[in-house]
Amino acid sequence: MMPAFDVTRARRETRGCEQLIHFNNAGASLPPIPVADALYGYLHEEEMYGGYEVMARRTVDLDNFYTAAARLLNCSPEEIAFSDSATRAWNTAFYAFDFQPGDRILAGSAEYGSNLVALLHQVKRQGVEVIWVADEASGQIDIKALENLIDDRVKLICLTQVPSGDGMINPAALVGKVAKSAGIPYLLDACQALGQLPVDVDQTGCDLLCGTGRKFLRGPRGTGLLYVRKALIEQLEPNQLNHHAAELISTDHYQLRMDAKRFESWERSCAGQLALGVAIDYALDWGLAAISERIMRLSGILRQKLANIDGVTTADQGVEQCGIVTFFAEQLPAEQLQQQLALRHINTSTVPFSANPISSARRRHPPLLRASLHYYNTTQEIERFVTELKQLL
Ligand SMILES: Cc1ncc(COP(=O)(O)O)c(C=O)c1O
Repeated sequence: MMPAFDVTRARRETRGCEQLIHFNNAGASLPPIPVADALYGYLHEEEMYGGYEVMARRTVDLDNFYTAAARLLNCSPEEIAFSDSATRAWNTAFYAFDFQPGDRILAGSAEYGSNLVALLHQVKRQGVEVIWVADEASGQIDIKALENLIDDRVKLICLTQVPSGDGMINPAALVGKVAKSAGIPYLLDACQALGQLPVDVDQTGCDLLCGTGRKFLRGPRGTGLLYVRKALIEQLEPNQLNHHAAELISTDHYQLRMDAKRFESWERSCAGQLALGVAIDYALDWGLAAISERIMRLSGILRQKLANIDGVTTADQGVEQCGIVTFFAEQLPAEQLQQQLALRHINTSTVPFSANPISSARRRHPPLLRASLHYYNTTQEIERFVTELKQLL
């Protein structure tokens, strides 16, 4: 049994939750005070002393991002690259593969819309074939179907662990087992998982992983990360290079870095990098197991209450579900509901088709409203949300 979660402290350290109910954590969470203050403080130092000068004297604090991310994912700091988004991180990894015509990529139906565009781009440009793995009846990826698709043509397996617009948690570790035994690289989109669930790259068996700062990690916008397994770093040449990713030896010779920083650019938001490190430390301080237990409890309560409202249908799939709660109501379209709730100082979001297009096309449900909960949300907020919802309907 876990000790009681100190939600009073969590809320005391979250200025934003005093004035609204924030159920849009899958969009961007409210950052806690230490993260926000680290960001503002660093920007203030840049204002007063100059960007290069501050960077020079805060190298240890800036480098903390790499050690924090490595602790979060159970890997080495050399396997981490800083990125400005999950999309950039995913693309950087994906476009580093030297695909040939006829190569196959196996992907789950939960794949994020932006990843789908990049996949289609490589279909068009390189002549690769993307095979969408079947889902089980529960909606999660069908592991047997995945196994049956493995052959010599398969050069990459992609999975989105937690879809953007569905409360399901895909069995990422089972996919990792298949990828490992077949010796096929495995690219995991853990964008909605980081900060919400414990994610261990060894347990998951992924070789590449992308994440973003602003969602359940509670970091600033414009930050993200890429993990690349050490054994793969040397095999993958980034699609674009610069003089941070590679050292210039002479005017006609460069040497690629041997760590994951070969996937980075030099210029970045240093304040963002610093604050993302603080956000990761902050999440680790709460403990990912404790965080995920609280999120699951709260979202379970919300799903149950929604199921008891006339005309409301919850739409989350999967065997295991997380803090993303999706539903639709017969009485009002999702977009109007979201707008009406916003007028009542309750933040939610709708689920666009681009969130997880393959799965949405398979399921053909009406547009969904997404209420995504974090550990700083409360049962009282859920009560208020449900009361407002009932009145609106
Ligand atoms: C599953 C998933 N992957 C990737 C992304 C893209 O993240 P970013 O906006 O940081 O590029 C999102 C954003 O919603 C997402 O939900």
